[in-house]
Amino acid sequence: MKLPLSKYVWFDGKYVLVEKANVPITTHAIHYGTSVFEGIRAYWNGENLYIFRLDEHVKRFRRSGQFYNISLNFSDNKITDAIIGICKKNKIKKSCYIRPFYFVGDYGINLHVTEKAPTNVAIFTFPFGDLFNKNGITAGVVSWKKFSDMSTPPQAKMGGNYLNSIIATQEAKRNGVDEAILLDHNGNVSEAPGENIFIVREGQLLTPALTSSALEGITRDAIIKIAKDLDIDVIERDIARSELIISDEIFLTGTAAEVTPVIEIDSKKIGKGKPGDITMKMMQEYTDIVMNKNNDYSHWLTKVY
Ligand SMILES: Cc1ncc(COP(=O)(O)O)c(C=O)c1O
Repeated sequence: MKLPLSKYVWFDGKYVLVEKANVPITTHAIHYGTSVFEGIRAYWNGENLYIFRLDEHVKRFRRSGQFYNISLNFSDNKITDAIIGICKKNKIKKSCYIRPFYFVGDYGINLHVTEKAPTNVAIFTFPFGDLFNKNGITAGVVSWKKFSDMSTPPQAKMGGNYLNSIIATQEAKRNGVDEAILLDHNGNVSEAPGENIFIVREGQLLTPALTSSALEGITRDAIIKIAKDLDIDVIERDIARSELIISDEIFLTGTAAEVTPVIEIDSKKIGKGKPGDITMKMMQEYTDIVMNKNNDYSHWLTKVY
Protein backbone atom coordinates (compact mmCIF):
# COMPACT_ATOMS: atom_id res chain seq x y z
CA MET A 1 0.00 0.00 0.00
CA LYS A 2 1.67 3.20 -1.18
CA LEU A 3 0.96 6.24 1.01
CA PRO A 4 -0.12 9.54 -0.55
CA LEU A 5 2.90 11.30 0.96
CA SER A 6 3.13 15.06 0.93
CA LYS A 7 5.65 16.56 -1.49
CA TYR A 8 8.25 17.62 1.07
CA VAL A 9 9.74 15.61 3.91
CA TRP A 10 12.13 16.75 6.63
CA PHE A 11 15.39 14.84 6.46
CA ASP A 12 18.34 15.45 8.80
CA GLY A 13 17.51 19.10 9.34
CA LYS A 14 16.32 20.09 5.86
CA TYR A 15 13.10 20.09 3.87
CA VAL A 16 13.67 17.99 0.76
CA LEU A 17 11.51 16.49 -1.97
CA VAL A 18 10.30 13.05 -0.88
CA GLU A 19 12.13 11.31 -3.76
CA LYS A 20 15.43 12.86 -2.61
CA ALA A 21 15.26 11.37 0.91
CA ASN A 22 17.17 8.11 0.46
CA VAL A 23 19.46 5.89 2.56
CA PRO A 24 22.10 3.26 1.69
CA ILE A 25 21.24 -0.47 1.76
CA THR A 26 23.78 -0.86 4.58
CA THR A 27 21.56 1.19 6.91
CA HIS A 28 21.68 -0.61 10.27
CA ALA A 29 17.95 -0.14 10.96
CA ILE A 30 16.98 -2.09 7.84
CA HIS A 31 18.95 -5.09 9.12
CA TYR A 32 18.22 -4.93 12.85
CA GLY A 33 15.12 -2.79 13.41
CA THR A 34 17.12 -0.10 15.22
CA SER A 35 14.63 2.67 14.48
CA VAL A 36 12.47 4.83 16.73
CA PHE A 37 9.17 6.27 15.59
CA GLU A 38 6.16 8.29 16.64
CA GLY A 39 2.70 8.49 15.13
CA ILE A 40 1.03 11.87 15.53
CA ARG A 41 -2.25 13.26 14.26
CA ALA A 42 -3.09 16.80 13.24
CA TYR A 43 -6.74 17.83 12.85
CA TRP A 44 -8.13 20.41 10.45
CA ASN A 45 -11.28 21.94 11.93
CA GLY A 46 -12.10 24.18 9.00
CA GLU A 47 -10.16 27.12 10.46
CA ASN A 48 -6.78 25.82 11.57
CA LEU A 49 -4.67 22.68 11.82
CA TYR A 50 -4.15 21.39 15.37
CA ILE A 51 -1.47 18.88 16.33
CA PHE A 52 -2.62 16.69 19.21
CA ARG A 53 -0.33 16.42 22.25
CA LEU A 54 2.82 17.33 20.35
CA ASP A 55 4.97 17.83 23.46
CA GLU A 56 4.13 14.37 24.79
CA HIS A 57 4.98 12.77 21.44
CA VAL A 58 8.32 14.58 21.22
CA LYS A 59 9.16 13.54 24.77
CA ARG A 60 8.40 9.87 24.07
CA PHE A 61 10.30 10.11 20.77
CA ARG A 62 13.53 10.98 22.56
CA ARG A 63 12.91 8.59 25.48
CA SER A 64 12.41 5.57 23.19
CA GLY A 65 15.92 5.89 21.74
CA GLN A 66 17.46 6.34 25.19
CA PHE A 67 16.63 2.74 26.13
CA TYR A 68 19.08 1.68 23.41
CA ASN A 69 21.55 4.61 23.42
CA ILE A 70 20.33 5.59 19.96
CA SER A 71 21.04 9.31 19.61
CA LEU A 72 18.54 11.88 18.45
CA ASN A 73 20.95 14.61 17.38
CA PHE A 74 18.39 17.43 17.31
CA SER A 75 16.90 19.24 20.29
CA ASP A 76 13.26 18.78 21.30
CA ASN A 77 12.61 22.34 20.11
CA LYS A 78 14.09 21.59 16.72
CA ILE A 79 12.00 18.41 16.33
CA THR A 80 8.88 20.28 17.47
CA ASP A 81 9.55 23.05 14.93
CA ALA A 82 10.18 20.47 12.20
CA ILE A 83 6.87 18.68 12.90
CA ILE A 84 4.96 21.96 12.73
CA GLY A 85 7.14 23.01 9.81
CA ILE A 86 6.43 19.95 7.68
CA CYS A 87 2.71 20.80 7.86
CA LYS A 88 3.38 24.42 6.91
CA LYS A 89 5.85 23.57 4.15
CA ASN A 90 3.30 21.26 2.53
CA LYS A 91 0.48 23.81 3.16
CA ILE A 92 -1.61 21.06 4.78
CA LYS A 93 -5.24 21.98 5.30
CA LYS A 94 -6.64 18.51 5.92
CA SER A 95 -6.46 16.17 8.89
CA CYS A 96 -3.26 14.22 8.58
CA TYR A 97 -0.91 11.69 10.14
CA ILE A 98 2.67 12.74 10.89
CA ARG A 99 5.45 10.17 11.19
CA PRO A 100 8.74 11.32 12.75
CA PHE A 101 11.42 8.64 12.98
CA TYR A 102 15.14 8.22 13.54
CA PHE A 103 17.33 5.23 13.01
CA VAL A 104 20.86 3.90 13.16
CA GLY A 105 22.37 4.68 9.77
CA ASP A 106 25.45 3.30 8.06
CA TYR A 107 26.98 1.31 10.95
CA GLY A 108 27.98 -1.96 9.34
CA ILE A 109 26.91 -5.20 10.99
CA ASN A 110 27.95 -4.04 14.46
CA LEU A 111 25.51 -5.01 17.24
CA HIS A 112 27.25 -2.79 19.75
CA VAL A 113 25.16 0.32 19.27
CA THR A 114 26.44 3.28 21.26
CA GLU A 115 25.58 7.00 21.40
CA LYS A 116 28.24 7.47 18.74
CA ALA A 117 26.48 5.32 16.14
CA PRO A 118 25.38 7.56 13.22
CA THR A 119 21.66 8.26 13.06
CA ASN A 120 19.32 9.85 10.54
CA VAL A 121 16.05 11.61 11.33
CA ALA A 122 13.08 12.07 9.03
CA ILE A 123 9.48 13.29 9.16
CA PHE A 124 6.76 12.71 6.60
CA THR A 125 3.05 13.32 6.54
CA PHE A 126 -0.03 12.21 4.60
CA PRO A 127 -3.78 12.88 4.76
CA PHE A 128 -5.51 10.47 7.13
CA GLY A 129 -9.11 9.70 8.02
CA ASP A 130 -10.50 6.86 10.14
CA LEU A 131 -8.27 3.83 10.63
CA PHE A 132 -11.15 1.58 11.71
CA ASN A 133 -14.91 1.48 11.33
CA LYS A 134 -16.11 3.75 14.14
CA ASN A 135 -19.39 1.81 14.38
CA GLY A 136 -17.37 -0.97 15.97
CA ILE A 137 -14.95 -3.72 15.05
CA THR A 138 -14.49 -7.39 15.85
CA ALA A 139 -11.44 -8.63 17.73
CA GLY A 140 -9.94 -11.89 18.88
CA VAL A 141 -7.26 -13.00 21.31
CA VAL A 142 -4.29 -14.38 19.38
CA SER A 143 -1.85 -17.09 20.38
CA TRP A 144 1.24 -14.87 20.09
CA LYS A 145 2.08 -13.11 23.37
CA LYS A 146 3.08 -9.48 23.76
CA PHE A 147 6.84 -9.24 24.34
CA SER A 148 7.69 -8.14 27.86
CA ASP A 149 10.28 -6.27 29.87
CA MET A 150 11.98 -9.64 30.28
CA SER A 151 13.10 -9.43 26.63
CA THR A 152 12.92 -5.87 25.27
CA PRO A 153 11.45 -2.68 26.76
CA PRO A 154 7.79 -2.34 25.71
CA GLN A 155 7.94 1.41 26.41
CA ALA A 156 10.48 1.99 23.64
CA LYS A 157 8.65 2.63 20.36
CA MET A 158 11.17 0.80 18.20
CA GLY A 159 10.67 -0.41 14.64
CA GLY A 160 11.83 -3.92 15.58
CA ASN A 161 9.12 -4.27 18.24
CA TYR A 162 6.44 -4.19 15.58
CA LEU A 163 7.26 -7.66 14.28
CA ASN A 164 5.22 -8.81 17.30
CA SER A 165 2.33 -6.59 16.13
CA ILE A 166 2.65 -7.85 12.58
CA ILE A 167 2.51 -11.55 13.45
CA ALA A 168 -0.44 -10.93 15.80
CA THR A 169 -2.31 -9.02 13.08
CA GLN A 170 -1.69 -11.81 10.57
CA GLU A 171 -3.21 -14.34 12.97
CA ALA A 172 -6.24 -12.10 13.65
CA LYS A 173 -6.88 -11.65 9.93
CA ARG A 174 -6.53 -15.40 9.32
CA ASN A 175 -9.15 -15.87 12.03
CA GLY A 176 -11.45 -13.45 10.22
CA VAL A 177 -11.50 -10.64 12.80
CA ASP A 178 -10.58 -6.98 12.40
CA GLU A 179 -8.04 -6.71 15.21
CA ALA A 180 -5.85 -8.83 17.47
CA ILE A 181 -5.73 -8.71 21.25
CA LEU A 182 -2.45 -9.85 22.76
CA LEU A 183 -2.04 -11.34 26.22
CA ASP A 184 1.02 -10.57 28.33
CA HIS A 185 3.64 -13.08 29.55
CA ASN A 186 1.33 -14.02 32.47
CA GLY A 187 -1.73 -14.58 30.30
CA ASN A 188 -3.44 -11.33 31.24
CA VAL A 189 -4.69 -8.83 28.67
CA SER A 190 -1.94 -6.54 27.35
CA GLU A 191 -3.04 -4.52 24.34
CA ALA A 192 -3.76 -4.62 20.60
CA PRO A 193 -0.98 -4.49 17.96
CA GLY A 194 -1.11 -0.67 17.77
CA GLU A 195 -3.68 0.33 20.38
CA ASN A 196 -4.33 0.23 24.12
CA ILE A 197 -7.45 -1.48 25.39
CA PHE A 198 -10.11 -0.35 27.85
CA ILE A 199 -13.04 -2.34 29.18
CA VAL A 200 -16.13 -1.10 31.02
CA ARG A 201 -17.59 -3.09 33.91
CA GLU A 202 -20.36 -1.79 36.16
CA GLY A 203 -19.69 1.80 35.06
CA GLN A 204 -15.96 1.62 35.82
CA LEU A 205 -13.24 1.95 33.21
CA LEU A 206 -10.47 -0.63 33.46
CA THR A 207 -7.24 -0.79 31.51
CA PRO A 208 -4.16 -3.02 31.86
CA ALA A 209 -1.32 -1.51 33.88
CA LEU A 210 2.04 -0.92 32.21
CA THR A 211 3.30 -4.05 33.99
CA SER A 212 1.17 -5.98 31.46
CA SER A 213 3.59 -4.75 28.77
CA ALA A 214 1.13 -2.20 27.41
CA LEU A 215 2.61 0.89 25.77
CA GLU A 216 2.07 4.05 27.80
CA GLY A 217 -0.18 5.41 25.07
CA ILE A 218 -0.76 9.13 24.78
CA THR A 219 -4.40 8.52 23.84
CA ARG A 220 -4.67 6.10 26.79
CA ASP A 221 -3.46 8.90 29.04
CA ALA A 222 -5.92 11.35 27.45
CA ILE A 223 -8.84 8.95 28.01
CA ILE A 224 -7.83 8.37 31.65
CA LYS A 225 -7.76 12.14 32.25
CA ILE A 226 -11.03 12.79 30.41
CA ALA A 227 -12.79 9.96 32.29
CA LYS A 228 -11.56 11.23 35.66
CA ASP A 229 -12.77 14.74 34.77
CA LEU A 230 -16.18 13.18 34.05
CA ASP A 231 -16.12 11.45 37.46
CA ILE A 232 -15.84 8.01 35.88
CA ASP A 233 -13.65 5.67 37.96
CA VAL A 234 -10.54 4.48 36.10
CA ILE A 235 -8.61 1.49 37.39
CA GLU A 236 -5.29 0.27 36.03
CA ARG A 237 -4.90 -3.39 36.93
CA ASP A 238 -4.40 -6.90 35.60
CA ILE A 239 -7.28 -7.90 33.34
CA ALA A 240 -7.94 -11.60 32.92
CA ARG A 241 -8.73 -12.84 29.43
CA SER A 242 -12.15 -14.06 30.55
CA GLU A 243 -13.07 -10.56 31.75
CA LEU A 244 -13.11 -9.43 28.14
CA ILE A 245 -16.07 -11.68 27.47
CA ILE A 246 -18.10 -10.41 30.43
CA SER A 247 -17.30 -6.74 29.79
CA ASP A 248 -20.18 -4.34 29.26
CA GLU A 249 -18.12 -2.40 26.73
CA ILE A 250 -14.68 -2.55 25.15
CA PHE A 251 -12.80 0.08 23.19
CA LEU A 252 -9.32 0.58 21.81
CA THR A 253 -7.34 3.81 21.91
CA GLY A 254 -4.43 5.07 19.85
CA THR A 255 -3.31 7.96 17.75
CA ALA A 256 -4.34 6.17 14.56
CA ALA A 257 -7.37 4.32 16.01
CA GLU A 258 -8.50 7.29 18.17
CA VAL A 259 -11.36 5.72 20.18
CA THR A 260 -12.63 2.60 18.40
CA PRO A 261 -15.44 0.45 19.85
CA VAL A 262 -15.00 -3.33 19.91
CA ILE A 263 -18.42 -4.94 19.55
CA GLU A 264 -17.46 -8.59 19.35
CA ILE A 265 -14.61 -10.57 20.85
CA ASP A 266 -13.79 -14.21 20.14
CA SER A 267 -17.17 -14.46 18.32
CA LYS A 268 -19.06 -13.24 21.40
CA LYS A 269 -21.09 -10.05 21.41
CA ILE A 270 -19.92 -7.36 23.84
CA GLY A 271 -22.87 -5.77 25.65
CA LYS A 272 -25.62 -5.32 23.11
CA GLY A 273 -23.24 -5.81 20.19
CA LYS A 274 -23.01 -2.09 19.51
CA PRO A 275 -20.92 0.76 20.98
CA GLY A 276 -21.89 1.29 24.63
CA ASP A 277 -22.73 4.57 26.39
CA ILE A 278 -19.32 5.19 27.99
CA THR A 279 -17.54 4.33 24.73
CA MET A 280 -19.77 6.76 22.81
CA LYS A 281 -19.20 9.45 25.41
CA MET A 282 -15.41 8.98 25.14
CA MET A 283 -15.56 9.10 21.34
CA GLN A 284 -17.56 12.33 21.43
CA GLU A 285 -15.33 13.99 24.03
CA TYR A 286 -12.21 12.97 22.13
CA THR A 287 -13.54 14.32 18.82
CA ASP A 288 -14.56 17.62 20.43
CA ILE A 289 -11.14 17.98 22.05
CA VAL A 290 -9.07 17.29 18.93
CA MET A 291 -11.28 19.67 16.93
CA ASN A 292 -10.66 22.41 19.53
CA LYS A 293 -14.28 22.51 20.63
CA ASN A 294 -13.49 22.04 24.32
CA ASN A 295 -11.50 24.87 25.90
CA ASP A 296 -10.69 22.78 28.98
CA TYR A 297 -8.27 20.75 26.89
CA SER A 298 -7.00 23.33 24.38
CA HIS A 299 -3.55 23.06 26.02
CA TRP A 300 -3.27 19.64 24.33
CA LEU A 301 -3.36 21.29 20.90
CA THR A 302 -0.59 23.02 18.96
CA LYS A 303 -1.85 25.43 16.33
CA VAL A 304 -0.02 25.19 13.01
CA TYR A 305 -1.12 28.43 11.30
C1 LIG B 1 1.75 -1.05 20.57
C2 LIG B 1 0.98 0.20 20.70
N1 LIG B 1 0.16 0.35 21.75
C3 LIG B 1 -0.56 1.46 21.93
C4 LIG B 1 -0.48 2.52 21.04
C5 LIG B 1 -1.26 3.77 21.29
O1 LIG B 1 -0.39 4.79 21.65
P1 LIG B 1 -0.72 6.30 21.37
O2 LIG B 1 -2.04 6.57 21.99
O3 LIG B 1 0.38 7.04 22.02
O4 LIG B 1 -0.76 6.48 19.89
C6 LIG B 1 0.36 2.41 19.94
C7 LIG B 1 0.50 3.52 18.99
O5 LIG B 1 1.43 4.28 19.08
C8 LIG B 1 1.11 1.24 19.77
O6 LIG B 1 1.92 1.10 18.73
